[in-house]
Amino acid sequence: MIGVLVSGNGSNLQALIDAGLPVAAVASNRKDAYALIRARTAEIPTATFALDCHVSREERDLVMATWLEEHGVESVVLAGYMHLLTPPFLARFPDRIVNVHPSLLPAFPGAHPIDDALAAGVETTGVTIHLVDEGLDTGRVLRQEAVPVDPRETLEERIHAVEHRLLPEIVAGMLEGAAR
Ligand code: GRF
Repeated sequence: MIGVLVSGNGSNLQALIDAGLPVAAVASNRKDAYALIRARTAEIPTATFALDCHVSREERDLVMATWLEEHGVESVVLAGYMHLLTPPFLARFPDRIVNVHPSLLPAFPGAHPIDDALAAGVETTGVTIHLVDEGLDTGRVLRQEAVPVDPRETLEERIHAVEHRLLPEIVAGMLEGAAR
């Protein structure tokens, strides 16, 4: 069973749901994330763990990890989740947390990779699916796919289309591996 962490629109969460993957719970740091509405529409339990409701980031992450485990979560997918995870959370799901990032890491880590790639004037950017560690988009790369920058008007759309294809594929493989 997977748990998905979200902060925003949740189109990657939707791709996981539409692929029929076993999403057991969806958690967010923001109560206004549209991704939560997508989860509720799919009758998936949701919860918000806002930083200002906890004494520290570590404590928030521990409570969130416990909530996910209580819902049967064994693997975690970050689908547009905009906070770094702390060691107490990472230790609960060792090598079982993946992130989707819209650049060819290690190029353009951080919050604005598509804008950063455009500003840098590169011809090719892409999508990376990687394991999550304490760093900012630094974990071991599981899969990458290049996307040409031009035509730039459609770059974002084309990147998202690749994300929505790759993420469910990698997560399905991860679940199969875990079941073996
Ligand atoms: C995606 O581009 C993902 O790669 C990045 O944040 C964006 C989230 O989009 N980490 P969505 O919320 O899944 O629509």
